[in-house]
Parts: sequence; structure tokens; C-alpha cells
Amino acid sequence: MFEYDNHDLPELTPTELQDERDILFGIISRFIGYFTMDSQRESQNNTDTEYPFVPMDPRQVYAQIKFVRDYLDGQNQAAGPYRFIDIGCGIGNVLLTAEQMNFEVWGIEKDKFPFQVAAKLIGSERVSQADIWQYDNYAAFKVIYYFRPFHDGVLQRRFELLVEDQLQPGGILIANRKMSVKIDADPRFSRLSSTMPVWLKKKEPCPE
Ligand SMILES: C[S@@+](CC[C@H](N)C(=O)[O-])C[C@H]1O[C@@H](n2cnc3c(N)ncnc32)[C@H](O)[C@@H]1O
Repeated sequence: MFEYDNHDLPELTPTELQDERDILFGIISRFIGYFTMDSQRESQNNTDTEYPFVPMDPRQVYAQIKFVRDYLDGQNQAAGPYRFIDIGCGIGNVLLTAEQMNFEVWGIEKDKFPFQVAAKLIGSERVSQADIWQYDNYAAFKVIYYFRPFHDGVLQRRFELLVEDQLQPGGILIANRKMSVKIDADPRFSRLSSTMPVWLKKKEPCPE
């Protein structure tokens, strides 16, 4: 690929920068949309309880992961790269963003079509075709991300609790469209952002 030096590019005004961002996010959304249609048509998920691949808005994904990266850098710039998992990773769209922000990215996805796309994009050693209920390595990750895999409320709440129990102390949870709000009263967790669904699992054991 032909490489430009940064100084070959003109300086942009804030309006031009915003315009450039809108165009780039628009292109990303078009690519994700292309795979979304095929993923949904080919889905083998249980439609009574599970969502097919529905992508999270890429701007929000970017803001959430940048927030977590900046938080972790603020704790210890020299540590990392940190392990990041997307549970129900679809085509790997979120993992691509996290990878660009220097996380060591991993994903699990049950549905065959989006799994195959993610395995090609991210690498088959990093993405497993696994069921959420069978996977048993959640504790290995510093950052756990999900965007509501279940539309059945009982399963979604059970899943949320499983993740909260398994997440390592000191780990961070990004939980999009979470159903249960109990985490906000759970002494193991503190919310890191008032606008984004991001929580820290505290390191210290809670007093009885
Ligand atoms: C709402 S989509 C989120 C996709 C992606 N993580 C994002 O944020 O853009 C939920 C994903 O969870 C997957 N999923 C649903 N049930 C699952 C299960 N039991 N095991 C593994 N993945 C599952 C779906 O196939 C789908 O790709």
C-alpha cells in the first residue's frame, strides 16, 4: 500500500475533521451492514431466545473502548496489552476497534455465518465458535464486552450475573443494553461513567 507522510496531508478545521469522521463512520457502517443482512438471513440461532448478529453503533463502540483504554492507561501506562473479549462477537466488528486500540482481542460467537467472518477478520486462533453457556474462560479477561445476546429476559439476566461473577477483580465490564440494574447496588462493582455502561469490578474483597 502507498504510504503518505502525515505532513503531506492538509490541516483540517474542526468542521472538516467532523466531516471526515462522519464519512469514515459511514463507510464502516456500510461494510458492517453488508454482513449484517447475510448474518441475519443465515442465522441458526434459537429465535425464541437469542438475537442474531445485530451490530452496535460503531461511534458508541469507539467511545466506550477509548474510555476504557484511557482509564487503564491512567492506572498504569506501562501495563498491557490487556485481554479483551466480546461475548457474542458477531462478525468481529467490535474486536476490530479494540484491536486498533491495542487490546489483545478475543471473541466467542455461536452462529456459524458471523463466526466465519470474524474468524477470517480477526484470526481463527482468537475467535471460537462457542456457546455462551459452555464457554468457561471469562475470568481470563481484563475487559469483558457484550451487547445483549438474549432477548429472553430470564436468560439475559442469568447471563449478566454469570459474567459479573466470573469477571476478574480489577476487570472492566462494558455491558450494552443490560437488563438488570442490580449491578449498581452490588458492592463488588463501581460505575466508571455516568453516560456509558461501563463498570469496574473492585479488587478488594468486600467486608461481610
Ligand atoms: C446483539 S449481537 C452483538 C454483536 C456484537 N457483539 C456487537 O456489539 O456489535 C449479539 C450476538 O450474540 C450472539 N449470540 C446469541 N446467543 C449466543 C450464544 N448462546 N452463544 C454465543 N453467541 C450468542 C449472536 O449470534 C449475535 O452475534
